[in-house]
Order: sequence, then structure tokens, then C-alpha cells
Amino acid sequence: MISSRIKNMTPSATIEITEKIAELKKAGVEIIAFNIGEPDFDTPENIRNKAKEGLDLGHTRYTPAAGTIELREEIAKKLYKDNNLKYTYKDIIVSSGAKQSIMNALLTLCEKGDEVIIPSPYWVSYIEMVKLTGAKPVLVQLEEKDNFSLDIEKINKSITSKTKCIMLNSPNNPTGSIYNEDQLLQIGNICVDNDIFILADEIYEKLIYDGEKHISIGALSDKIKGKTILINGVSKTYAMTGWRIGYAAGPKDIIKAMTDLQGHMTTGPNAPAQYATLEALQNTEQAVEIMVKEFDKRRKYIVDRLNSIEGISCNLPKGAFYAMPNIKSFYGKSYGNYKIGNSMDLTNYLLEEARIAVAPGEAFGISNNIRIAYSNSMENIEKGMNQMEKALKKLK
Ligand SMILES: Cc1ncc(COP(=O)(O)O)c(C=O)c1O
Repeated sequence: MISSRIKNMTPSATIEITEKIAELKKAGVEIIAFNIGEPDFDTPENIRNKAKEGLDLGHTRYTPAAGTIELREEIAKKLYKDNNLKYTYKDIIVSSGAKQSIMNALLTLCEKGDEVIIPSPYWVSYIEMVKLTGAKPVLVQLEEKDNFSLDIEKINKSITSKTKCIMLNSPNNPTGSIYNEDQLLQIGNICVDNDIFILADEIYEKLIYDGEKHISIGALSDKIKGKTILINGVSKTYAMTGWRIGYAAGPKDIIKAMTDLQGHMTTGPNAPAQYATLEALQNTEQAVEIMVKEFDKRRKYIVDRLNSIEGISCNLPKGAFYAMPNIKSFYGKSYGNYKIGNSMDLTNYLLEEARIAVAPGEAFGISNNIRIAYSNSMENIEKGMNQMEKALKKLK
């Protein structure tokens, strides 16, 4: 009854956890959620007001399939101002979240027999999205000891005549690493030489710390830009996860094909949300600055706390809002009926014993770590870390 396309999808390693959280919550147990990749802040007020204005002005009908020209022009301005990239509105498509833009791009470029290179650890959805197109995900393992920076040699070696594209996500979910200009230039030139497309997922672009700089790979040369489909959106930067607005910019023919696909799949994204996004892009710099400062404070606190727990080591992430502590030293330990053999076991243990929800590394292609989203209040982070420390001390 169910198609092989869907049957071939691997259920997310976090589904089991999500169900357990729901059961515990139903039973009245208070769980602190560090497993969800979304800002805890409300969408800034000026953006909410713009949406209300949009409704009153009648922005309630279908828009062009690629999004309104007004919004695409605003995105083009943003890409020029922030990323040093020249695009016209015709090179841009607005989708229902960055997720849809990524899926559009993959369905437009890839088919059975193709290979797509994905540096690992990776964002969970990449693998399943690639598989849905019929193409094969080819994982390139990056190393914790190198702060999960791009391993150019390994990537180069994984290229075959079937390689169609590479997925780059910087700042990275889940590792928090940021790829530097030199690495991006090398990868970009390799892709140009081998006729490989680059899906540059820049959704965490503004969430960077310690004076780090975000670089768009497409800005490094015209040839690289010609092979790049840039992905971005408003979910993370403007605390707008539920509004479902993302976008892609790239070569005209590819964006046109993505638009044809989107036209049949969903049509243009939510009209009032598109209108409100104009405000997000034009007038929200200060609110973003405040959020980033707060994330930075939490980042430093949580990494300090994690490193002070015996048995844990945690790199300082440079971007996004995730910490990925190494928890391998707990493997083989137990407490009561709990036996820890992998990151899923530890995730379950922390849920039941520490009342905190984290995400197991297995979900992101890494076995010795867990992912903790610090997009939660300082109060919850402090409480959660206390509970975690106490629970981990019990493991012998
Ligand atoms: C790396 C990465 N890309 C894309 C997305 C999707 O964002 P959107 O909410 O715009 O669909 C996420 C969300 O978790 C993400 O972590």
C-alpha cells in the first residue's frame, strides 16, 4: 500500500524520544526541552504587526508561485548587502520554509543513479530528502578533534562521476562549526572543476559569535556562484519558525524549474507571512542583535557547565544554537536498571532520570555525542544542567 519511496525513509531516531516526552508530560512530569531546534523568543513585535497590517490590506490571496516580486526584490537587496551577492528577483524563489527550498532544489537536480555528498554530522533531514529524489547520500565523516571543520581531502576523494551535488551547512547544525573562506574557496573550485552543484544552507548565518564572519560560498567567484544554490530563511534569525518562510537563490534555469515544481506542489507560500517577512528583512537588526547576545551568554554558560561535569568534553560552538558534548565515557556504565551503551541510551536515561530532553548523536550521524539546543531560557538551562550533572554522577 505504501510506496517504496516512503517505505525507504528511515524513521527519525528522535521519534521514540518525542513519544516518550509526550507520555511523561501527559503524566504531569516537567521536562526541560533541549531537543528542539527553534528559538524560545517570540517573533519581534514589529513583524507581528506587519502581518496584521497585511491581513487588513488584503494580502490574503495566492501570490506568484515563486513568492511576491516585492519580497523577492527585498531578498535580493539583503543578499547584496549582507552576502555580497548580486541576484535579481528572477533568481530567487520563496518557499514554505527553507526545508521546501532544499527539497525543491534536490528534486530539480537529482535523480536515481546520482550521488550527493553530505558532510557528517549532518542535519537529519538531508539524508531523507536526498533519498526521496532517488539519489544516494554519500557521507563524509568530519572529526571532532578538528572542530568538525571541512576535510577537503576526504571530500575530494568521495567524488565520483555520479556526484551531482554537495550539501554545505555553515554555521552548522548540529556541530556549530563555521567554514572559513579558504575551505569554502577550495571546495567551491573543486565543485566547479567537477561540475558539481553546491547547496549552501545558510539558515544560521546571523547566529554567530566571537567576532566570527559568515561567508557565502557563492560570493567567492562568479564560477562558484554559477554552481551554487543558496538557501536561507527567517525561521532561526527572526524567531519565525511557525511562519514558514524560506528562500533559495541561484542560476535562473534552476530557480525557474524549482518554481515550476513548487507551482504544482504548494503554490506560493503563505501570503501574510510573505508580507511580514518584508519587515523582518528591513527593520529587525536590533532585535536580532539582542537575541544573538542572549544566545551567546547561554552558549558560554552551557559549555562551561558541560565541561565541568566529570566525563564530558564539549567544544565551544562558533555558530547556531547547539552544543554537542562528547559523552562516550559513560558507555558501559549503569545505574539501577539503566545501562548506557550508546547515545540513544543516554538520551533515554537523561529524559527519565534528569527530566531533560536532548537529541541523540545517532540522529545526526555521530555516535559519541548528544545535541543540546541552548535556545531555552537561562533559568531552564541552569536547572537542566543541575539535573543532568546529578543524574550523570549516579552512573557507575
Ligand atoms: C540546517 C537546517 N536547514 C534548514 C532548516 C529548516 O528551516 P525552515 O524552518 O526554514 O524550514 C533547519 C531547521 O531545523 C536546519 O537546521
